Amino acid sequence: MAGKCASAWLLSFLLFFLFVFCDADSGGEGGCTRNSSLVDFESEFVMVQHQLRGVFKVIDDCSFRVSKFDMIEGSDVQWWGALGDAFENLTAGFVISDEKLNRTYKGESFSVRLNNVTWDQIKVIAVWDEPTASDFGHVLLGNMRNNSASPLNSSAPGSYSAPLPSPSIGNNSSGGNSQLYEQPTMFDNCKILANNYRLRWTLNLEADLIDIGLEAAQGSEYYMAFGWAHPNSSNELMLHADVAVTGFTEEGTPFADDYFITRYSECLLSKDGSVEGVCPDTIYEGSDPIGLVNNTRLVYGHRIDGVSFIRYQRPLQSVDIKYDLPVDHTKNMTVIWALGLIRPPDVLRPYYLPQNHGGPPLVTHGHLTLNVSEHVNDCLGPLEAEGKEDEDLIFADEKTTLVVVAGPALHYPNPPNPSKVLYINEREAPVLRVERGVPVKFSIQAGHDVAFYITSDPVGGNATFRNMSETIYAGGPEAEGVPASPMDLVWAPARNTPDEVYYQSLYGQKMGWKVQLVDGGLSDMYNNSVVLDDEQVTLFWTLSDKSISIAARGEKKSGYLAVAFGSGMVNSFAYVGWIDETGKGRVNTYWIDGQEAAAVHPTRENLTHIRCKSEDGIITFEFTRPYYPSCVPGSRPECDNIIDPTTPLRVVWAMGARWSENRLSEANMHSTTSSRPVRVLLISGLAEAVEDLRPVLAVHGCMMFVAWGMMFPGGILAARYLKHLGNEWYQLHIYLQYSGLAIIVLGVLFAVAELRGFFFGSVHAKFGVAAIVLAFLQPLNASIRPEVTANGEVVSSKSTLRILWEYLHVVSGRCTLVVGFSALLSGMKHLGDRYGGQNVRELNWVMMIWFLMGSLLVMHLEYNEKRKRERSFLRSNLGLDNIDERDDSIDLLCSDDRTQEPCPSEGMEVELEPLSR
Ligand SMILES: *[C@@H]1O[C@H](CO)[C@@H](O)[C@H](O)[C@H]1NC(C)=O
Ligand SMILES: *[C@@H]1O[C@H](CO)[C@@H](O)[C@H](O)[C@H]1NC(C)=O
Ligand SMILES: *[C@@H]1O[C@H](CO)[C@@H](O)[C@H](O)[C@H]1NC(C)=O
Ligand SMILES: *[C@@H]1O[C@H](CO)[C@@H](O)[C@H](O)[C@H]1NC(C)=O
Ligand SMILES: *[C@@H]1O[C@H](CO)[C@@H](O)[C@H](O)[C@H]1NC(C)=O
Ligand SMILES: *[C@@H]1O[C@H](CO)[C@@H](O)[C@H](O)[C@H]1NC(C)=O
Ligand SMILES: *[C@@H]1O[C@H](CO)[C@@H](O)[C@H](O)[C@H]1NC(C)=O
Repeated sequence: MAGKCASAWLLSFLLFFLFVFCDADSGGEGGCTRNSSLVDFESEFVMVQHQLRGVFKVIDDCSFRVSKFDMIEGSDVQWWGALGDAFENLTAGFVISDEKLNRTYKGESFSVRLNNVTWDQIKVIAVWDEPTASDFGHVLLGNMRNNSASPLNSSAPGSYSAPLPSPSIGNNSSGGNSQLYEQPTMFDNCKILANNYRLRWTLNLEADLIDIGLEAAQGSEYYMAFGWAHPNSSNELMLHADVAVTGFTEEGTPFADDYFITRYSECLLSKDGSVEGVCPDTIYEGSDPIGLVNNTRLVYGHRIDGVSFIRYQRPLQSVDIKYDLPVDHTKNMTVIWALGLIRPPDVLRPYYLPQNHGGPPLVTHGHLTLNVSEHVNDCLGPLEAEGKEDEDLIFADEKTTLVVVAGPALHYPNPPNPSKVLYINEREAPVLRVERGVPVKFSIQAGHDVAFYITSDPVGGNATFRNMSETIYAGGPEAEGVPASPMDLVWAPARNTPDEVYYQSLYGQKMGWKVQLVDGGLSDMYNNSVVLDDEQVTLFWTLSDKSISIAARGEKKSGYLAVAFGSGMVNSFAYVGWIDETGKGRVNTYWIDGQEAAAVHPTRENLTHIRCKSEDGIITFEFTRPYYPSCVPGSRPECDNIIDPTTPLRVVWAMGARWSENRLSEANMHSTTSSRPVRVLLISGLAEAVEDLRPVLAVHGCMMFVAWGMMFPGGILAARYLKHLGNEWYQLHIYLQYSGLAIIVLGVLFAVAELRGFFFGSVHAKFGVAAIVLAFLQPLNASIRPEVTANGEVVSSKSTLRILWEYLHVVSGRCTLVVGFSALLSGMKHLGDRYGGQNVRELNWVMMIWFLMGSLLVMHLEYNEKRKRERSFLRSNLGLDNIDERDDSIDLLCSDDRTQEPCPSEGMEVELEPLSR
């Protein structure tokens, strides 16, 4: 007895130790205790978004285990703790673990350690996407909602549930007395029916029921049908099959109805009252006494992430033996399925009418053998729909006014949400799609507690308040109004606005939703555009404070497109857009200093907002760059690549078959280039081709040269040196000066005609105008010339007036000539600026030689004149004075007596020398 007792004691002692050790072991790393009442608590996740499924179990005081975990990737997904599952509580939550959920999960199991939080500090564990404040799914810890309806009811968009027995006693025996809080989205088994269609089921033998979940990534206007084929039918499987047809009404409520198939057709009622086709059981029977015929019971349904999900229950053995087939859970049975469009009920036929599924087998319909007791799970990971097509989408254009009001949250697309959200044009939190550059008009009447704004922040409600940064594109505190006095807001999305921004209220989080930006036409997004030479490339640009945004579009197919700033591809800064091998659009910058491939040097310019795309082989690329590179000029070639919007930019282009970033070969070199550069005036948006020399402007230059370089100086020379020819000099003077005037008038007209207007901007134009005004003053003052004397009899008695006039005429004449020469020179410089190159330099040389020759001639004549005057002086002293009465002004002004001011013509020569250099 005693021995037995002792051994029993020993055994229990050992068992105790074993228990304690095991326990300590399972306490895991860090020696976590298991004191919390939540240890072994087990619950399935509530699916809210991103097709999240899984089972949650508390392991110990500082960790939990997640199994069968499915989730579609988010942006920055964290384990989140909160005090409740309401909007306020979840948004006030915090990160509870260092571990992130940074990818898509496919039926995975793992443990998570809590970081710096204990179970009694939180009531809800959520899978939370921080940037968008989205709840993907959560678990209520403890028995918070003992007998209430599923929380999905309130939190998921488009969800609906019938009461579900929860919690249920866990059927996994390992947990002992642990309870498993079930969710309608979770099943024991799953089988893939088609690419986008899954069957899930859980057998409940005690209740003689089977729970079936149908899940399809398709639009809400499609039905999902599934059922058992008649055991006796072998080829016409559909005939006499007992199926459930499930789907969503136009209001978004799910339904699951029991159908029986008697013919391959829509349900048809004949006049005699007989019914044939794919019809609800109740129609055949006429009425449904206490749910005997219609015994498919909807449990739950939702549409989330573009996936339809319906859970229904049916008995294995139905009372209705006529239109329901018994399901033998031990046997292999043939099941059939179909997906197709559904027609809503009408007055004649008050039930949903599945349309012929059509389509190929295994895509829209099919059959397979199924033994429901067999454990199957071949669905790996969440079902992903192409797009969230359920989201309301409003295309905003220039003509529609978007009316913004506030209203109750019913199906807010990004739960959790506040009770009141924004409605636009009577739709709850729709996605707005706008085009860059196209203004959108909002009429804000959402009440004084809603300040509408467009922001980069997905959550809204003043990011600064949450210590986050945001970019506000439009709106603000003043953008509030009521229906009686709406506030209008116009927003023209700029070219650099990101692809996705949000409309929100400044005073409340998560009231609005997304704005998608799509590229408008380039002409909408950019303020200016010009067609470059040869009409094969269009250049677009918009100037801002410190930067310029540029786009270039080729007009024909090419492998790459390059635009360069310079007179040619050589010695230019080139921007090249191309599509690389991976299909990605690229834009790079180069400094090109030679003809060969080796002379193309990549540069490191700070380009932003780069885009490059190829549509049918037409390349379009865009970029934004600062006017001034941020590096020290001269340190690298690209540091000198300054764009000054006030000076014309010379632009050339090239296109070719292929470009590669690293290994440029001759094969990469351009196959087509612009034949000449185009000067683009960035500020005015004008452009003109740079030509070798435009003929009409050349004529203008020629004429001006003839007038200022030959006629006027000739006239002056005639007046000064040809006095000895008698009256002839005067004729010559008048003749030359008047023809000069005529020629400059014609020259100006030519220039004005060619440039289509008169532009005072340039130095040349200013000099030109000054010279012309002065030139026309000469004949004017000549017309008021006072007579020498009564009859010029007494030479020495010239009136003072006459002398003064002579001074005036001569001085102003020579000044005019100086200004005219300046105009000629500035014209040459202008020519150089515009056209660059060789010819201008040559012309400058010709001008210089001409002036030199003129100066030499003047010097020579002056010397002759001096000698002559010395001689005549001698003669006059000898009383041989016989000076012509008209030998006037010039002698007075440039008298031999050098104590007087120097002769203007000499002064002119001195001035001309530096000018002509
Ligand atoms: C959730 O938040 C609301 C508002 O902040 C608060 O009144 C409520 O007590 C919170 N719930 C829990 C369980 O803490
Ligand atoms: C996800 O995070 C883990 C660490 O938490 C890291 O090892 C892993 O590389 C990340 N995966 C991705 C796809 O970023
Ligand atoms: C840990 O939690 C406490 C209280 O909840 C908090 O004050 C502290 O900042 C947290 N520390 C870290 C590193 O999260
Ligand atoms: C089947 O019964 C459900 C309620 O259990 C009901 O909502 C549904 O309308 C019925 N279907 C038909 C076709 O009568
Ligand atoms: C059911 O079918 C599977 C193959 O699909 C077969 O292995 C199994 O033996 C069948 N079971 C019965 C009871 O016929
Ligand atoms: C946003 O919040 C910050 C900090 O609380 C505040 O200074 C700022 O005025 C708010 N902005 C607006 C537009 O209300
Ligand atoms: C680009 O920016 C970086 C840092 O801002 C600067 O060091 C570099 O010189 C810049 N390059 C050019 C070409 O402006």
